[in-house]
Amino acid sequence: MSSKKPPLDLTDLSIDTLAVRAGQNSSEFREHSEAIHVTSSFTFDSAEQAARVFADDEAGFVYSRFSNPTISSFEEKLAALEAGETCVATSSGMSAILGFILANYSSGQHIVSSRFVFGATKVLFDDLLVKFGISVSYVDGINIEEWLAALQDNTGMVFFETPSNPTMTLIDIQEVSRSIKAVNKSISVVVDNCFCSPIIQQPILLGADVVVHSATKFIDGQGRCIGGAVVGPEELVGKPMQKLMRTAGLSTSPFNAWVFSKGLETLGVRVRQASENALTIASAFEASGQFLSVNYPWLDSHPQQALAKRQQKSGGAVVSFEVKGGQSAAYELINATQLCSITANLGDTRTTITHPFTTTHARWSEELKAEVGISPSLIRLAVGLEDPQDILRDLGLG
Ligand SMILES: Cc1ncc(COP(=O)(O)O)c(C=O)c1O
Repeated sequence: MSSKKPPLDLTDLSIDTLAVRAGQNSSEFREHSEAIHVTSSFTFDSAEQAARVFADDEAGFVYSRFSNPTISSFEEKLAALEAGETCVATSSGMSAILGFILANYSSGQHIVSSRFVFGATKVLFDDLLVKFGISVSYVDGINIEEWLAALQDNTGMVFFETPSNPTMTLIDIQEVSRSIKAVNKSISVVVDNCFCSPIIQQPILLGADVVVHSATKFIDGQGRCIGGAVVGPEELVGKPMQKLMRTAGLSTSPFNAWVFSKGLETLGVRVRQASENALTIASAFEASGQFLSVNYPWLDSHPQQALAKRQQKSGGAVVSFEVKGGQSAAYELINATQLCSITANLGDTRTTITHPFTTTHARWSEELKAEVGISPSLIRLAVGLEDPQDILRDLGLG
């Protein structure tokens, strides 16, 4: 006699075990590695059953714009890792941010954002949200008073990245969440956790409401697929986002979701190793005395090292630094590399090198870039899994 095993109890499992075991969702064939359900729609036994499933009166998958078992597996796994109630996967990191806002806010509402954000995030806020009547104010966000001073009666959300792309500026998740909630419980604190991943930092455990991800980065981990995700409570991410996905279809594909699920299984070992490599490289940069500045949260010279050590488990895999000699010297250093890939992605097994001033933040005005410290001399190195000594030699050190 065969009896079906009960579903795995995830309580009390460590993050490494959750990364491998959460969200396992096998079919009647009992495959060990999840299948990829490449199908646009799902079938029913009768018209009556179809009506019940469409009306949410019976559980079941309907149409892959908003429901698919492979995508659900990825969502369950990431929700478990970020300690969130639920997760919705999206077509990109940008559509995760857009989708969360479209699902929860409307014309006349206001957002406060840190000005230390990814280039496209600010363009999305300034050029797109304005068309829907949603306004955005910016703060440095390092000092809690600035956040409080920027709040308005119609503020619905505060948003920040920590560490930020590419200046590695930190924001105190616990302090911002606590202070904002003390003023108005209904304001959502939303953190872009792309640079850390849940292996290094779990914003929801520090008091944030919602985490957004570019799954394109460390979650994929090998630079293959574009995708994103939003993790948070049912009332913000469950119903509102499911309705948005069903209606507006910012969905990811089953194949991409499968790649992300598999990526999550090895997230811990990859992120910890890349972070160790980045610390070796950042320390060697600083010791060389060759650069105007080196920005890495684990270095004694980082002005927010104490905060980094409080809210992160390690410094992460990204280091930025300023060369002497401006843009031409930055280009010269980038062009002299053989091993590093000149590309704007990050979170890959391969180390990538980028000139943010003319790529990821090229659409910002020179004044805006100057305000946040993105100078023509700044280079971003997203460290991968090669031997760090080889990367240092590639950069002319060691
Ligand atoms: C911090 C951060 N957030 C969001 C994004 C956007 O993600 P995607 O490229 O998946 O849309 C990026 C991309 O580089 C990023 O660095």
